[in-house]
Amino acid sequence: MSTQFDVAVIGAGAAGMMCAAVAGQRGQKVVLIDHASRLAEKIRISGGGRCNFTNIDAGPQNYLSENPHFCKSALSRYTARDFIDLVKRYRIPFHEKHKGQLFCDSSAEDIIAMLQAECEKGNVAWRMPCKVADIGKSGDGFRLETDAGEILAQRVVMASGGLSIPKIGATDFAFRIARKFDLKLVEPRPALVPLTFDSAAWQPFVPLAGIALEVAIETGEKKARGHFLEDLLFTHRGLSGPAVLQISSYWQSGMALTINLAPQADLTDTLLQAKASSKKNLANTLAQWLPARLAESWLQVQGMQGDARLADLPDKQLRQLGDSLNRWRIVPDGTEGYKKAEVTRGGIDTRELSQQSMMAAKVPGLYFIGEAVDVTGWLGGYNFQWAWSSGVAAGQAV
Ligand code: FDA
Repeated sequence: MSTQFDVAVIGAGAAGMMCAAVAGQRGQKVVLIDHASRLAEKIRISGGGRCNFTNIDAGPQNYLSENPHFCKSALSRYTARDFIDLVKRYRIPFHEKHKGQLFCDSSAEDIIAMLQAECEKGNVAWRMPCKVADIGKSGDGFRLETDAGEILAQRVVMASGGLSIPKIGATDFAFRIARKFDLKLVEPRPALVPLTFDSAAWQPFVPLAGIALEVAIETGEKKARGHFLEDLLFTHRGLSGPAVLQISSYWQSGMALTINLAPQADLTDTLLQAKASSKKNLANTLAQWLPARLAESWLQVQGMQGDARLADLPDKQLRQLGDSLNRWRIVPDGTEGYKKAEVTRGGIDTRELSQQSMMAAKVPGLYFIGEAVDVTGWLGGYNFQWAWSSGVAAGQAV
């Protein structure tokens, strides 16, 4: 016996719940299917358990995609302000933390409960945990083969996310279905992820593990160049922290990162001026602008003595030292991969989708939303905002 719905949404994460709620509240008969046994695990663990649910400044400039214009329509029709209004209607307490990032005061569970309540208002039917083995065409609709039997739906919304954190249920299902229906993909890769380095090349920096400092970081070329002023964290294997997570989305194999470890100072000028006017040694002078442990280790890497008097050092050497800190160039050899990546870059090629409805032009009735689509936000609430905006766009169209 098969059951019949107007709309089947696959994936009860951020985008899927939003889409199902909006479609249900419009009077569509909606079923929401997820293979996980715990609901919306990514929302639960996000923002350290407090869910950075949007960013008040979210706009197209905060997203990466082969077509940077694609996200404009959905983001402008359902904005951060709209989601904040919803959060306020549910009286969920929240606060701004850093650069427009909004977090729940108490728990990400508040956001999950709100989305569940919105689905309830739309009489959404749930199938969970329930695996979808395959999706095929059936007349002018679709037939889903699931653990709960055959489900027929006029329209299907793929909201099963990207590949990051397989341990909590991420799969390539959206990509498999896209390929099955002959839709192009932009090659997926881990993003918002720590970067790693050849272990021999990294050896001199291992003693710096645990040091955090604000840096200016950049990589990429022309329009695909990213630059951020954020905190960097040295780890035993490489670099992490918000600066590196942000830049990782722009980084491609073989590219160098340029890092300014003292963005508030021109260290060449500082060192030359200090040489002329003070009796300070190297380590003390650098420690005005850098964590002392970093300054000491950096001098060791450069083969210099921290207690050397500036007056005894040639200008050329001081220039080289200043430059090495203001323009540190380093080439990562990889990333920590999907097990650590917060998101997946790439995904369903947006040229296959309508920017108004998220429907695949080649397959009427089939929609893709959220992280599965080639739209990737910066760190800071932008990815959830894309999930909400693309979910609403499809929810209003199905
Ligand atoms: P999401 O991954 O949320 O949902 C997909 C759903 O589909 C899951 O429930 C999964 O079980 C289900 N599914 C997968 N395959 C299936 C299949 N074959 N059959 C049935 N169901 C299937 N973003 C942000 O803006 N602010 C933040 O604070 C954070 N923090 C954060 C922390 C960590 C540790 C991670 C890993 C990620 C974040 N993110 C974030 C990113 C954010 O979580 C992510 O972009 C959104 O959850 C994407 O929403 P989706 O609904 O597209 O996918």
